[in-house]
Amino acid sequence: MKEQGTVEEIKEKISLSEKGDQNGQNSTFEHENRLERMNRLREESKLGGGEKRIESQHKKGKLTARERIDVLLDDGTFHEIDAFVRHRSHDFGLEKQRYLGDGVVTGTGKINGRDVCLFSQDFTVFGGSLSEAHAEKICKIMDLSMKIGAPVIGLNDSGGARIQEGVVSLGGYAEIFLRNTLSSGVVPQISAVLGPCAGGAVYSPAITDFVVMADGTSYMFVTGPNVVKTVTHEEITQEELGGAHTHASKSGVAHLVRENEIEALKSIRTMLSYMPQNNREKPPTIDLDDPHDRLDYVLNAIVPENPNKPYDMKSVIERVVDRSSFLEIHEEFASNIVVGFARLGGQSVGIVANQPASLAGVLDIDASVKGARFVRFCDCFNIPLIVFEDVPGFLPGTDQEWRGIIRHGAKLLYAFCEATVPKITVITRKAYGGAYDVMNSKHIRGDFNYAWPTAEIAVMGSKGAAEILYRKEIAEAEDPEAELARHDVEYRERFAHPYLAAERGYIDDVIEPAQTRPILIDALGLLQDKQDSNPAKKHGNIPL
Ligand code: HXC
Repeated sequence: MKEQGTVEEIKEKISLSEKGDQNGQNSTFEHENRLERMNRLREESKLGGGEKRIESQHKKGKLTARERIDVLLDDGTFHEIDAFVRHRSHDFGLEKQRYLGDGVVTGTGKINGRDVCLFSQDFTVFGGSLSEAHAEKICKIMDLSMKIGAPVIGLNDSGGARIQEGVVSLGGYAEIFLRNTLSSGVVPQISAVLGPCAGGAVYSPAITDFVVMADGTSYMFVTGPNVVKTVTHEEITQEELGGAHTHASKSGVAHLVRENEIEALKSIRTMLSYMPQNNREKPPTIDLDDPHDRLDYVLNAIVPENPNKPYDMKSVIERVVDRSSFLEIHEEFASNIVVGFARLGGQSVGIVANQPASLAGVLDIDASVKGARFVRFCDCFNIPLIVFEDVPGFLPGTDQEWRGIIRHGAKLLYAFCEATVPKITVITRKAYGGAYDVMNSKHIRGDFNYAWPTAEIAVMGSKGAAEILYRKEIAEAEDPEAELARHDVEYRERFAHPYLAAERGYIDDVIEPAQTRPILIDALGLLQDKQDSNPAKKHGNIPL
């Protein structure tokens, strides 16, 4: 890449050319050959809002729009488009500040050798705010992504609608939102939020498939701390209101948080490696040299004897999938369910797993929504689903009921019912009640449903069942506690195993945990060309 000139050199050239224009002559044409003119304009465009602002961006611990592109893409693959676009506004003195590129760098490039379309907002130009021309550039690259079937990556660093342009910039946002929506499920869309993103700047990322943030420099809010203070009288910092960890753990808006921008950008490269280019393709197979027939005997003893004792489902996942291939998504949000990408025998899969080590793996509102969104992404993009199940049911209580666990829990149910990708379930321990149905049961088109010998497939836990079934006997017993314990054991022996479900074919097989990996890889192989579909319709009506 050619080195950029200093601000002074460029300013001098600009003023020379402006002088010429004022004199009614075009000095550029007279004194500069055409190639030089092109290069001069290109260099000017590369400087964005100028060196001072670049310096200030660096001082904040942030990279510039172009530096980010360099980190994101394979070396030397970036092809910029629209570097010469300028805004057309004449209000508030904008006509005197017509930066080339207008605050966003757009183009194509390669990640892991595959094409991507991208835009990278330049905070050094009007705080990366979105003007009519800026929006047109983003829309153009999004339209291209749909034409060529390549993922779109947005590197967002923007103060929202360019205030000076008024309704024109609002229109620009709406054009982007429409394209985000029409592209949804056709090409993967990934957003990195790498600065203070306010107003309209947060809604485009929100419609995309995944949002990545960098710790300490990324913020997202509909309105910033000042407006919050005026309206609700709350005093809050940017970080607390909309920092990376706030959105990763509280709101669930952020799917991945990394310690800095470079790691955030690298995580996009990793994430894309699990995805196909578009909904017509299958994800790439990448053999990681982990033997397909590898057995893991630790798994035989991983589920504790005591059904109320937790264990870490992530260690089950990591032992089964290809070595080091598990990329957890939404790690800080609703830790009672674990979702993420992995590889099994080189094939990309989406993992959805209850986590007994967090709230006993119960399904609550956040876990349901988190799981549903991930399942739907995988189904859009032909990524098989592997479910590890250990779930005591839906979380009871007024908080959950009043906030709509019925409506939100139904999302997860809907998502699994609707999915037509290969779907495999392994029940490691509890599969109780409605949660048994929800977690990709046979009845909702699970292709292969396996249980470990430790599985307990029942309407509810044995103690709860005994309390309901033997209420009278327990109340009248001399020693109610001993009576309850007796019925508890009785119920467990009768129902807390996988064989009643297996008897009916609801479970295809009861398997030795150590053999889970080769069994899953073989099942995936069988399902490679699986064909299934849903009835023709405009679209379903998921309970939002
Ligand atoms: C024009 C803007 C701008 C904007 C920032 N700038 N936001 N210019 N339109 N929206 C300019 C600033 O004037 C400043 O210019 C430069 O960018 C850097 O901004 P700073 O404020 O110095 O940076 P910082 O302190 O880091 O604060 C960043 C910020 C803050 C948190 C984003 O600038 C801010 O609150 N901006 C306004 C946010 C906002 O209300 N946007 C409109 C939302 S309405 P100079 O020349 O001084 O360096 C909206 C509607 C769409 O988006 C709705 C669709 C659903």
